[in-house]
Amino acid sequence: LPYLFMALAFGYLLGSTPFGLVLTKFGGMGDVRKIGSGNIGATNVLRTGSKKLAALTLLGDMLKGTLAVLIAKEWGPDTALLAGMGAFLGHLFPFWLKFKGGKGVATYIGVVLGLYWPAFLLFALVWLACAYLTRYSSLSALIASALTPFALLGFGEWQLAELVAVLTALLWIKHKANIMRLLDGTESKIGQNDQPAD
Ligand code: G3P
Repeated sequence: LPYLFMALAFGYLLGSTPFGLVLTKFGGMGDVRKIGSGNIGATNVLRTGSKKLAALTLLGDMLKGTLAVLIAKEWGPDTALLAGMGAFLGHLFPFWLKFKGGKGVATYIGVVLGLYWPAFLLFALVWLACAYLTRYSSLSALIASALTPFALLGFGEWQLAELVAVLTALLWIKHKANIMRLLDGTESKIGQNDQPAD
C-alpha cells in the first residue's frame, strides 16, 4: 500500500508541472491563460504564434506522464497505473495553480505511451486523421480518447482499458466548454486565434 500511495503522489507531483505556463512565461509570451481559451495546453500555446513553444509544451506535458509511468513501473505491481493516474490528475488539478490545470490531452497520450505504446500509436493516428479532416484540436482529442479504451480492450488489456476509460471521462468533462462550442459552431480551428475563453 505505501508503494501505491507513493506512486500516486509521485505521479501527481510530476504531472502538476505546467509546461505551457512556464514555457510561455520564460519564452517572453506573457501569461497563456490570458489568451484564447485560457487553457495552459499546447493548442492554446500555439495561439501565441509560437510553434516552437507549442511543440515543447506538447512534448513536456506528454513526457511527464510517460516518465511517471516508466519510473513507477519498477516499484511493483499496479504502481505504473497509479503513477499514470496521478500524473493525469496533477496536470488537470495542479496545486501550484490553485487546482486550475489543463484539459489533459498531452498528458493522456504520454501516460498511454508509457503503459502500452500500441494504444498511443492508435491515438496519434486517429488524432492526426481527425485534425487533418476537421482542423479541430478538441474534437480530434475527444474522438481519439473515446476510442482508446476500446482499443485497449481489443488488445486484451482490460485493466488498462478500465483505467484509461476513467482518464477519458475526465478529459471529456474538462472539454465541456469545447463541446458546447463544437455543438453551436463557435469552436476555433487549429491555427486560428479567435477561440473564445472557456
Ligand atoms: O488539448 C486541449 C484542446 O483539446 C483544446 O484546447 O485551448 O482549444 O480549448 P483549447
